[in-house]
Amino acid sequence: MKNVNNILTLALSKGRIFKETIPFLTDAGVIIHDDPETSRKLILNTNNPKLRLIIVRASDVPTYVQYGAADFGIAGKDVLLEHESYPSGTLYQPIDLNIAKCKLAVAVKNGFNYHEMVKQGARLRVATKYTKSAREHFAKKGVYIDLIKLYGSMELAPLVGLADAIVDLVSTGNTLKANNLIEVEEIMTVSSRLVVNRASLKNNEKHLRPFLEVFAKATI
Ligand code: ATP
Ligand code: PRP
Repeated sequence: MKNVNNILTLALSKGRIFKETIPFLTDAGVIIHDDPETSRKLILNTNNPKLRLIIVRASDVPTYVQYGAADFGIAGKDVLLEHESYPSGTLYQPIDLNIAKCKLAVAVKNGFNYHEMVKQGARLRVATKYTKSAREHFAKKGVYIDLIKLYGSMELAPLVGLADAIVDLVSTGNTLKANNLIEVEEIMTVSSRLVVNRASLKNNEKHLRPFLEVFAKATI
């Protein structure tokens, strides 16, 4: 997709990624006139006529960037690993912004002897939104699993007998605690990364570069 006006499009999800990205944009002198929490607008103009933001679902950020509908975007490592284009080269991942930090972990109902079950070679039912990462994790351990794809509220699954374990994001641990679950294995640490469309980088380098530098500088 050719960017005829040289207006750069940055794809962000509202919520924590948007909030944690604001300081980087402020450092680049960018002011956003709308607040995605209160506005229904999906395209947000900024004080910089060469930069606009689009507000998309967190898991859709890589898709917009992959197809060039956004020149760059910010997405969690969890989302990037699940994306269909991974690990092909369509998305260039230059910078770990160290924001939206959490971890991907295995959790079970308090009292469920996960390690013993694994040792016995039991087949586990695992509910998750992160099927690629979960499949890879258990394959590496040699654990047989039945994967149950969910789109949210994974914590509920072991409580109502849908699954033995879940693979989900954990930050403070409050959600697990509130639902009588415990973490039994960390799979990976997660933070959000800037991803750039390779063709945009090639064709729009002059305009993109100053923004990439601001993001890179802020992470030093
Ligand atoms: P979608 O709207 O597509 O379902 P989502 O609800 O996971 O996505 P957010 O909750 O905004 O979207 O999360 C965006 C990213 O922030 C996640 O992909 C993850 O990398 C990170 N994240 C999620 N939960 C936490 C948390 N509790 N603490 C810190 N970072 C988190
Ligand atoms: C995420 C994740 C966990 C929770 C973990 O949910 O899916 O449920 O955070 O954080 P904690 O360990 O600090 O409790 P989020 O808050 O993004 O809600 P959502 O998945 O419904 O968007």
